[in-house]
Amino acid sequence: MSHGFETLAIHAGQEPEARTGAVVPPIFQTSTYAQNAVGDPRLGYEYSRSGNPTRDALQECLAALEGGQVGLTFASGLAAEDAVLRTVCRPGDHVVIPDDAYGGTYRLFARVAQRWGVSWTPARISDLDAVRAALRPGQTKIIWAETPTNPLLGIADLAGLATLAHDVDALLVVDNTFASPYLQQPIAHGADIVVHSTTKYVGGHSDVVGGALVTASTALGEELRYHQNAMGAVNGPFDAWLTLRGVKTLGVRMDRHCDNAERIAEYLSKHPAVAQVLYPGLPDHPGHEIAAKQMRRFGGMISFRAAGGEEHAVQICNRAKLFVLAESLGGVESLIEHPARMTHASAAGSALEVPADLVRLSVGIETADDLLADLEQALG
Ligand SMILES: Cc1ncc(COP(=O)(O)O)c(C=O)c1O
Repeated sequence: MSHGFETLAIHAGQEPEARTGAVVPPIFQTSTYAQNAVGDPRLGYEYSRSGNPTRDALQECLAALEGGQVGLTFASGLAAEDAVLRTVCRPGDHVVIPDDAYGGTYRLFARVAQRWGVSWTPARISDLDAVRAALRPGQTKIIWAETPTNPLLGIADLAGLATLAHDVDALLVVDNTFASPYLQQPIAHGADIVVHSTTKYVGGHSDVVGGALVTASTALGEELRYHQNAMGAVNGPFDAWLTLRGVKTLGVRMDRHCDNAERIAEYLSKHPAVAQVLYPGLPDHPGHEIAAKQMRRFGGMISFRAAGGEEHAVQICNRAKLFVLAESLGGVESLIEHPARMTHASAAGSALEVPADLVRLSVGIETADDLLADLEQALG
């Protein structure tokens, strides 16, 4: 029987516990497991780097929510990304990454992978011709996409990218952190691997760092599972439990994030202190039509350019009160930040440098009128 998203979020991988009937999967805070006899572990669990029931519950739930075969969770989003890189790429291989990728993703490819002989080309991921031109058939192993992108809210055509990738025997890897599986399921559009920083919307409460991968195929999932254990960057049982607790409300939270963001994007687009609003829900956003096709709604992230330039952007961030000045995103509370000096500082001086007048909002689920009042005073 197939179930709806909210049902899966609450039940997938989360059967009542066999021994006690505990409705919520317990935190199996153990590093090791007693075995029946040499070579005969009970229920297959031997050691918590290799397997832990709390982590398994989260992994199974995320695989169901993304409509994939295998779910794997990690200590952080970047640990999950690193597992992809090291499983798929060998020295001499090449990857295409968005020219406005998340700063940490850029750093992983540009500063770490490059040293191991994996080269990379930044491309405008919303432009299929630009991505096609960046491909090196035979050498390119991954097209890496974010949609919406962080922090410019660019929209990539997932089905188009999947065709481009598969035509050259490369994988389409989609960082679905900004949308969450509630708003977008990249595997349904042809992606091979979905990546999450579960630190963000999936966890949803800014109280735990984590990452996840979900694969379209079982074979690739099992290869990644081998590396998850071999490299060992797993999340602990309590972190898995916190993340799973957050997942249960993902659908209702996302709807409120979207409600609030839609109102704020409209307000900002009429404000004289704002030069440009980047939000895929606005009809004049260049990716609006594609976003409307592949997303349920347009998400809780908004970026905008301050009319008064860099110092004005910094002032707005400093003046905000209810919007907390902080990195990260996707939690119930609203956050504001200056990407050029904060989250994306590692891309300074590169092709991925972000505009200095940009302000990024992670719109939370507070009362929308209060958020609008805070922005009104911060914009000055
Ligand atoms: C889009 C995106 N992908 C990946 C990451 C990395 O995740 P983590 O910070 O959990 O390592 C982030 C973090 O901000 C992000 O915004």
